[in-house]
Amino acid sequence: MQLPAKKHIFAIPGSLRSGSSNHAVLNFLKSMAPADIAFTIYDRLVDIPPFDPGNDHDRPHEAVSELRNFITNADAVIICTPEYAYGIPGQLKNALDWTVSSGSFTGKLTALITASTGGENAHEALKKVLGAIDANRPEEATVLISFIRSKMDGQGNITDEQTTDNLKAVLSTVINAIK
Ligand SMILES: Cc1cc2nc3c(=O)[nH]c(=O)nc-3n(C[C@H](O)[C@H](O)[C@H](O)COP(=O)(O)O)c2cc1C
Repeated sequence: MQLPAKKHIFAIPGSLRSGSSNHAVLNFLKSMAPADIAFTIYDRLVDIPPFDPGNDHDRPHEAVSELRNFITNADAVIICTPEYAYGIPGQLKNALDWTVSSGSFTGKLTALITASTGGENAHEALKKVLGAIDANRPEEATVLISFIRSKMDGQGNITDEQTTDNLKAVLSTVINAIK
């Protein structure tokens, strides 16, 4: 008898900061995921080179190839990001630009969590970017969490019940869609 392969969620944090609240949100989701779901939090965003259309071909920088493969092989992607200067953090946008030509996101179930002080601008901009790269982004898997830092304790635990409920709802939507 062959056991079904594990379903795989690939999570991309938009913050490079050590102790990031967006990393804490993804760690919370990972802790909530059932044992038969593999949940990988991407840790190489920092290694993605600046997007250069002149180098955007079948054999790009190794970190770009790896990122594209992670996305392609995942059953679902979760992006969780802050807003910087009223926009998408540069390194996250840069990474997404590398996926335009590869079509890695085409039809890919993608949840969007913007966890920031305000976050409305990055959230709206990311909806457009995900639309441009043809991601499948259900509204039920799209959530804006403003004042994120006031909703966590010093250890990165989410202390706000509404926020944990919203995050659990996002995770359920993703898992139900891929099972
Ligand atoms: C350079 C910089 C610019 C920022 N600009 C914004 C902003 O425009 N809107 C916003 O909601 N938060 C802004 N913030 C606050 C971040 O949302 C907040 O620090 C958030 O916790 C960062 O996410 P992280 O904890 O995952 O690193 C900014 C933070 C930095 C460092």
